[in-house]
Amino acid sequence: MKTLILAGGKGTRLWPLSRKLMPKQFIRIFDNTSLFQKTMERALKFSNPKEIFIVTNREYNFRVLDDLNELGIDVPKENILLEPVGKNTLPAIYWGMKIIEENYGKSKVAVLPSDHLIKVNEDYIKAFEKAKKLATNYFITFGIKPTRPHTGYGYIKPGERLEGGYKVDEFKEKPDYETAKRYVENGYYWNSGMFLFDSRLFIEEVKRVNPEVYQAFEEAEDVEKAYEKVPEVSVDYGVMEKTDKAAIVPLNIYWNDLGSFDALYEAFEKDESGNAIRISGFKGDHINIDSKNNLVITERLTATVGVEDLVIIDTGDALLVAKKGETQKVKEVYKKLIEKH
Ligand code: GDD
Ligand code: MG
Repeated sequence: MKTLILAGGKGTRLWPLSRKLMPKQFIRIFDNTSLFQKTMERALKFSNPKEIFIVTNREYNFRVLDDLNELGIDVPKENILLEPVGKNTLPAIYWGMKIIEENYGKSKVAVLPSDHLIKVNEDYIKAFEKAKKLATNYFITFGIKPTRPHTGYGYIKPGERLEGGYKVDEFKEKPDYETAKRYVENGYYWNSGMFLFDSRLFIEEVKRVNPEVYQAFEEAEDVEKAYEKVPEVSVDYGVMEKTDKAAIVPLNIYWNDLGSFDALYEAFEKDESGNAIRISGFKGDHINIDSKNNLVITERLTATVGVEDLVIIDTGDALLVAKKGETQKVKEVYKKLIEKH
């Protein structure tokens, strides 16, 4: 099987950990490997290095090369597709499918985002095997059982039973809170953001449901021109919501999309007061007096006294203090920064 890794996102909700030239997927959040490197390791479960393709922004090329080099994985240089400008995931996946077909002909392709924390287990491998069979006729999404009404995800209503999964009755990307709540109560799944597509089926379907994307790539003389012309659209809005050929394979794994500092807090280990503390550098330290349920990431000596539910991120040159539960809004800080500088 081929794998296409999406590694061109900006990760603005994790500022100041995530920076313009160091977006979320390349940060070493949990240990000494980046989320992108962890994604590569997962990709190697289904594909050999020559079958792995990476779509990223031109600006991140050196990050990708450094990370691959460090792991000693020999992905051919031609498999690293460098976008002149980010136009969200549909153009990235479309271009990837085209290049994979040029190299290998019609193929089954696992599409993996590079910003997730996943604990691989047997179910993960089995789910991909089931999905591979179904992908001959369907666009496969992998579904996660929701734990709360989260507005940052896609929601999937499972329909008729298929061998290994279900037909998708409805796919709704990023609903509002009330709708999300109703979906959770009614047995919808979260879209994990991972997909398995047959390249030919995918290209033909984009031609049908999103002809502007198809035309941009098929009619432009080069990638530069294609990216100038192509609309900015995610695969979720641009294909999954529109197609009637989607199927879902449920996944029973630990999955966290690390979309915000709240998600990061959930992923970290906590002490007996519910604090998640991450210290880096030789000057980093934390002293706690009666503080509870905070996330503190710091490379300086930091003390918290009597505070609760705070997110404190100190990177030496920037400091973020935010309230837990509101960290989705950090992306607005990033926007303001871009306007200012
Ligand atoms: N190459 C490239 N170019 N990659 C991109 C671009 C781009 O312009 N934009 C985003 N990506 C990459 C990101 O780095 C990430 O790995 C992946 O594509 C998904 O993009 P996000 O921007 O993180 O999407 P999302 O989290 O808002 O929503 C998606 O994931 C959710 C689960 O985490 C959707 O698929 C939702 O339906 C899903 O629930
Ligand atoms: Mg994401």
